[in-house]
Amino acid sequence: MKTKIADLGSLEEGKGLCVKTDGVSLVLVKTGAAVHALENKCSHIGLPLGRGKIENGEIICPFHGSRFNLVTGENTDWVSAVAGVKIPAWSSALLSFGKKPQPIRTFPVSVEGEDIYVEL
Ligand code: FES
Repeated sequence: MKTKIADLGSLEEGKGLCVKTDGVSLVLVKTGAAVHALENKCSHIGLPLGRGKIENGEIICPFHGSRFNLVTGENTDWVSAVAGVKIPAWSSALLSFGKKPQPIRTFPVSVEGEDIYVEL
């Protein structure tokens, strides 16, 4: 189902905008001409990604540093930091709580004029 979720003017380049529609919490990210929609829930322990840094086409979880591709949701780095500070690999294994790297969900986005639509 295609739903209008925001106006283009409400997005800042490289900064997440948190929105909720049909009970799903999303992060919208504008990079150049593209707008991406990702589930606002880190696959590590489900904390929100919305305040994560945007860098090199990825969103970085603000809690433990996991990185996710903005287009595919693919995980590219798993639990590698605490509050932005890198941690050694052995701590990463402990902090992972036995969870293996997992992607996050992404959703198709279309922009019509100033209106941003997402398909859930
Ligand atoms: S909650 Fe995102 S990496 Fe831990």
